[in-house]
Amino acid sequence: MNVYDSEIIAALLQEKGLEEVTSPEKADVVLLNTCSVRELAEQKIHTRLGQLRIIQETTNPTMIMGVVGCMAQNLKKSLLQKKPYITFILGPDSYRNIPKILTSNRTSSRVIDTHLSSMELYDGLFPARHEGINAWISISRGCDKFCTYCIVPYTRGRERSRSSESILQEAKRAIDKGFVEITLLGQNVNSYRSSSGGFSELLLQLAQLSGLKRLRYTSPHPQDMNDDVIAVHKDYYPVVCDHIHLPLQSGSNSILKAMNRTYTWEHYLSLVEKIRSAVPTMSITTDMIVGFPGETEKDYEDTLDMMEKVRFDAAFMFKYSPRPGTKAAILVDTVPEDVKSVRLNRMIRLQNKHTLEKNQALIGKKVEILVEKESTKNPYEMMGRTSTNKIVIFPALKVKPKDLITRTITDAQGVTLFSKP
Ligand code: 5AD
Ligand code: SF4
Repeated sequence: MNVYDSEIIAALLQEKGLEEVTSPEKADVVLLNTCSVRELAEQKIHTRLGQLRIIQETTNPTMIMGVVGCMAQNLKKSLLQKKPYITFILGPDSYRNIPKILTSNRTSSRVIDTHLSSMELYDGLFPARHEGINAWISISRGCDKFCTYCIVPYTRGRERSRSSESILQEAKRAIDKGFVEITLLGQNVNSYRSSSGGFSELLLQLAQLSGLKRLRYTSPHPQDMNDDVIAVHKDYYPVVCDHIHLPLQSGSNSILKAMNRTYTWEHYLSLVEKIRSAVPTMSITTDMIVGFPGETEKDYEDTLDMMEKVRFDAAFMFKYSPRPGTKAAILVDTVPEDVKSVRLNRMIRLQNKHTLEKNQALIGKKVEILVEKESTKNPYEMMGRTSTNKIVIFPALKVKPKDLITRTITDAQGVTLFSKP
């Protein structure tokens, strides 16, 4: 989502005649597009701001620094007070102000705009995209789910969907520019609603665009995953990819309830079974949080049990970090840091085992690969991705980026698949 937002910001700046440079030393303006989802993301920004401040003091004294995005929304004035060298702070709905701020002489006074809009969708802007394989397209902004640990509903505001016409127009333009894959984005992508239908109708329309080789989306909420979406996966493969990133967060019903996730592990498991019976090759990946307030050893064991039951292809796993202002932040953080670390490490080991086993099961099987680029380790090899979103390394002979090829998997190591001659 932040990559997409940065592309929107770049488009706004380019419209005003600004150009991208390759390093902060050469920049008139440096914008940091920030994330607040976990404490670590915010810490990284503080470190980066410190580094930029040194560049400003030593080599680039006229450089203007702006902080935009969720952290700007979240920390607002405190960020301005603590960092006097930051010129402006804009929340996720205020990017349209950037050109105005830069061209008016207001850079001498400091600007803060963290007004959240119930309307802003950045419609009519074509993001300044970099690479030529995948185009991110945001179909909705904000979130109304209010999971108790999550800051997003506070930093990105209420959920609103773009019109399907606007999305289709952007998709066609991206395809005309040479992008062959589209990934639809939303905090809660499958609760998409427009006058011409819901998420499954949108997927169906996009899947039929000529020139589009692959269609993906992230992230759906288990509660809003319905039969129609599963049917589109089944009917529109291979354009609609065999991959669903379906955040589970916990395998304990009491923790899921405390998180306000609105489903039980039983419901999630039946959903996975339904998906896999419709599309047996579907890869399912997830997000997990360990150490949510009140998580007992039993809750944690239930979560590992659930991971054994589902056997995810891959997972992003996080230690819970309290986000001030969320409902969970006022709960007592009962799980000590060292216990969180132990739980996380054991979870990662279990997931690594599942990932490897899932990938080893592909050895000897033919898969379709979308070629992306030269392998970083060996110029005689290239890398690409399966429909299931797994990375494959294969010989560079007679293939070029954006080709769809079919190859037999010969080896699997960690998260990577290999197809050797
Ligand atoms: N602590 C830890 N992980 C979090 N996530 C969201 N908020 C928090 C938090 N406070 C994780 C969830 C979500 C992913 C994007 O980040 O797993 O799905
Ligand atoms: Fe956060 Fe929950 Fe919304 Fe995802 S669905 S963005 S975790 S509140």
